[in-house]
Amino acid sequence: MMTPQLYDNHGRPINYLRLAVTDRCNLRCFYCMPEEGIHYLPKKELLSFEEIERLIRIMASLGISKIRLTGGEPFVRTDLMQLIRKIAATDGVKSLHLTTNGILTGPHIEELKQLGIASINLSLDTLDRERFKNITRRDEFDNTWQTLQQLIASQIPIKINAVVMEGKNTEDIIPMVELTRHQAISVRFIEEMPFNGEGNHYARLSWTYKKILEYIQGAYPGLEKMKDQPHATAYTYKVPGYAGDVGVIAAFSRTFCGTCNRIRVTAQGILKTCLYDEGVLNIKELMRAGLTDEAIKSKLIQAFATRPRDGFEAELQRKNKSVHESMSTIGG
Ligand code: GTP
Ligand code: 5AD
Ligand code: SF4
Repeated sequence: MMTPQLYDNHGRPINYLRLAVTDRCNLRCFYCMPEEGIHYLPKKELLSFEEIERLIRIMASLGISKIRLTGGEPFVRTDLMQLIRKIAATDGVKSLHLTTNGILTGPHIEELKQLGIASINLSLDTLDRERFKNITRRDEFDNTWQTLQQLIASQIPIKINAVVMEGKNTEDIIPMVELTRHQAISVRFIEEMPFNGEGNHYARLSWTYKKILEYIQGAYPGLEKMKDQPHATAYTYKVPGYAGDVGVIAAFSRTFCGTCNRIRVTAQGILKTCLYDEGVLNIKELMRAGLTDEAIKSKLIQAFATRPRDGFEAELQRKNKSVHESMSTIGG
């Protein structure tokens, strides 16, 4: 069956849904939540698996073909694999992706591969156990590292996400680039955003994507620019002769909004048409109020037709001006 392709009010196709399956996490990353954690949602506030499956069927019928499951940490949600099996078999879902911290992921890699998972993005900000403990406030480096090795062996395409933070992990940048020497993986360095449950850590972002890039170029003067995928968040480069590639993601500078094809649904079922908006539609309420698929579709289409042009406009339109939510509730 041919599905229609939806465009937003700025002519951008909408075909990528990032869905947070839980707001819970087994880490306490400094850039994502305060040390004491966040106030987690009671289970009934989360979309149930049935509601998620229904939502994905509706979204797929509207032309969403790429789905990324995020969290919190997706594998903290009980029986996540049951949901993944269903999503992988949904008509119209052409590629299914996961963003995970890797701690609980290892035992599922074989089945994920069999189900045809398109890629796994692993959040890993340092290669040093002590710094890992300092950033995540948990001593789980070995588990994540072990998962990385298993993922490499599985040949599932892998992207490592490293948030770059002044005074926390900048000494890891070059060793992480070195991971791409022998492994065909992508290592992406991300600007820190203020979604940490508290607000801005800094008056001004020090490690912008430009600074990260200049720093890498300083160590590898021959660094080559690669062609970026359409709608990519990362600018991709390669050290000549290395097996993998390196990316920088201007998540705070927001340079890629012009080609943004992404929408988000939070763990509590709220639609966000930009990472920086406050949420534009409560899909869970619509479902629980008994709306038909057709009625929900028309609400979604309306929401896609009023997207802010970019993350700056979305931020300006917020009622609660400062961005401070925990990324764990949004899914990145
Ligand atoms: P691919 O599908 O593999 O390209 O992954 P992705 O970059 O869409 O997803 P991932 O979950 O790995 O996110 C990487 C980083 O990019 C995270 O820090 C996200 O928060 C950030 N990011 C993803 N989409 C957006 C976006 O629309 N706007 C902004 N500002 N940041 C984003
Ligand atoms: N700034 C930038 N990236 C973040 N992530 C989580 N919190 C932040 C933040 N405050 C990243 C994680 C994860 C991805 C989904 O979002 O590294 O890989
Ligand atoms: Fe957990 Fe991811 Fe947030 Fe870290 S960034 S606390 S791994 S949800």
